[in-house]
Order: sequence, then structure tokens, then C-alpha cells
Amino acid sequence: MSLSAGVLRITCVALALVCMTDKTECVSITEIAVPPFVENGTIEPVILDCIYTYDADEDQHLVVKWFFNDDPKPIYQWIPDLNKRSYSKSKIFEGRIDRNYAILSGSKPEHTDKYTKFRALKINRPTTEMTGTYSCSVTSLQGQDTRSKDMIVYAKPRRFSLSFKRPADSQETQFKCQVEGIFPQPQLHMYRVEQTRIAGNEYMNVANMTESLNYSVEPVGHQRRATKDGYLTVLTTSLSNRQFRLSSQSPKSRRHLFFCVYTIPSTDIKQTRVLEFYPERLTSSAISISQNISARLTVILIGVLVVLY
Ligand SMILES: *[C@@H]1O[C@H](CO)[C@@H](O)[C@H](O)[C@H]1NC(C)=O
Ligand SMILES: *[C@@H]1O[C@H](CO)[C@@H](O)[C@H](O)[C@H]1NC(C)=O
Ligand SMILES: *[C@@H]1O[C@H](CO)[C@@H](O)[C@H](O)[C@H]1NC(C)=O
Ligand SMILES: *[C@@H]1O[C@H](CO)[C@@H](O)[C@H](O)[C@H]1NC(C)=O
Repeated sequence: MSLSAGVLRITCVALALVCMTDKTECVSITEIAVPPFVENGTIEPVILDCIYTYDADEDQHLVVKWFFNDDPKPIYQWIPDLNKRSYSKSKIFEGRIDRNYAILSGSKPEHTDKYTKFRALKINRPTTEMTGTYSCSVTSLQGQDTRSKDMIVYAKPRRFSLSFKRPADSQETQFKCQVEGIFPQPQLHMYRVEQTRIAGNEYMNVANMTESLNYSVEPVGHQRRATKDGYLTVLTTSLSNRQFRLSSQSPKSRRHLFFCVYTIPSTDIKQTRVLEFYPERLTSSAISISQNISARLTVILIGVLVVLY
């Protein structure tokens, strides 16, 4: 055993030289294909692929490994020459990697490349705790290459609400936007849109309230593990009732719209709640609606003063 290891080491040094001086193509990763984001528990399995080239004559003792975050133990390892595959026993990945998945090239099984066919990971029903950095490492005695990519497994919130309260004894109206059970931590913004009349024309004044908000975020659920139950993020702000009175010069009811928007960074996940607020009608008939933002309103939000009609 030790003798053969010694022999291997000698060939390694010799061949490494060949590899560099003769410009032989040593093993090299051309692409690591990892979806940037997927939904928690999605039925569609995710495939993490590590595409590499190697030289069938030069590269010996090929080993393919996949790592997750900073864990030095691979979640998956494959040694084609020994026909040996081993899988993580970690809480997150045990039993989650599909052991039958193979990359087939060509229609006939005998055309399948025996040095690449088990290079990829297929994960069924990915869950939030699999959010992180995936690294693929391919080594041979002659060379090695590593590449990494991030994958976010997000969870949409179980509840998303925007509401207001106007206590009878207070001079203020309180607004509250709440996102519950979301993963990872979202970004929340709040905007206030007010109709104003200038020289006979209707305009919309859009104020970005995000700077003046109270913001809190914490993991929810009794285990307080965000990957299990997500985060609770709450935005609150108070506006003086006088502000509304001043801005409504016309006896006709002026409409105020409050928007709360959450986004999950590095994904395209975004949702908006709208609160329609009529200060004059106050508590009795102020209506609150929750709906997805329409394309028109998204456009309105981009500018600070935008023509309404
Ligand atoms: C609103 O303000 C926040 C915080 O300053 C900022 O991150 C966000 O991009 C602003 N939104 C728009 C539409 O300008
Ligand atoms: C993700 O999905 C799993 C399995 O369906 C579930 O147990 C977990 O609570 C979900 N995570 C979040 C943050 O919703
Ligand atoms: C934020 O919270 C602090 C303390 O709870 C409070 O004094 C302050 O008025 C709040 N600010 C806003 C904008 O609601
Ligand atoms: C918002 O849009 C999502 C997906 O487009 C949809 O599933 C959901 O029912 C909509 N919510 C409301 C309140 O319209």
C-alpha cells in the first residue's frame, strides 16, 4: 500500500511537469451550473452541474467533489476509476441527493462518458437550509480546478399585510407593514403616494418613506430557526394627523395610497401591498385593500412627481 502510494507520488510529479510544459489539457472546469434561486420545496428537482474537460490520456485518478459553504467535508464525492461514490451524512443533505442521476451523452449507454456521468448533483425538493455556496472541485494527479456559485432557496411569506391604526386619543396615524415567514431576509420599502392638484392638473406625489421607518426583523417559530419558519419583518411609522388635513385643500376626498414592497435580494421575488386611505372619512369608511401592484403603479413609483393621467 505504502509502496504504491510512493510510486503514485513519483508519477504525479513527472506528469505534472508534462502537463505544464507540453500544454496538455489538464482537468479544467468550464462551467458550474447552479440555479441562482429556487422556491422552497419546489417539486421540480434542482440540478447542480459541474462541467469539466479532461485529457483521457493525461489525467489520472480523477476525483469529483462537491462542497457546501465552508464545510471541509464534501457533500458528495465520486472517484470514477474506483466506481465509488459517497454522500454526505449531514442533517441537511442526507438522503436528499438522488443517487440514480447520471449525465448521459448520446443515446446509447455505452457512449456515456465514464469520467463525467456522475459529476452532477440532483436534489429533490430543495429546502431553505440548502441556501448557500456550492463548490465543485475536480482533481487529477496532473491538475485541479474549483469553482463556486451561490444558490438561494427562498420561501415566500405566509402572511404579508399593510394596515393602519388611528387611536382616538392620539394625534397620529400608525402604519404597519408586516412580512411573516419569509426566507432569507427581505428588503422592505414603503412609499406614500398623494394626489395633488397643480394649475388644474392632477399630479401624484410619491414620497419614499423608507428612511423614516422603524424596522425590526427576527426569526419566527418556537425554534427560532429562520431556515425552518422564516423571518418576521415589521416596518412601522407614524404620521401626524395634521399632515393629512393640510394636504387636502379640496373638500372632495383626497386619496392617499401607501405601498409596502418586499423584495428578496438576489432573486426576482417581489410583492406589493397597497393601502388606500381617505383621511377625511377617517375610521368609519377608510378602506384598506391588499393587492398585487399593477404595472401602472409600478411606473408611478419610479418618479417622484409623475403625471397621473
Ligand atoms: C427608497 O429609499 C430606500 C432607502 O433609502 C432606498 O433603498 C430605495 O431604493 C428607495 N426607493 C426608490 C424607488 O428610490
Ligand atoms: C421550507 O419547506 C419545508 C418543507 O416543506 C418546511 O418544513 C419549512 O418550514 C419551509 N421553510 C420556510 C421558511 O417556510
Ligand atoms: C420608532 O420607535 C421609537 C421607539 O419605539 C419611537 O420613539 C419612534 O417614534 C418610532 N419612530 C417612528 C417613525 O415610528
Ligand atoms: C398576487 O400574485 C400572485 C402571483 O402572481 C398570486 O398567486 C396571488 O394570488 C396574488 N394576490 C392577490 C391578493 O391578488
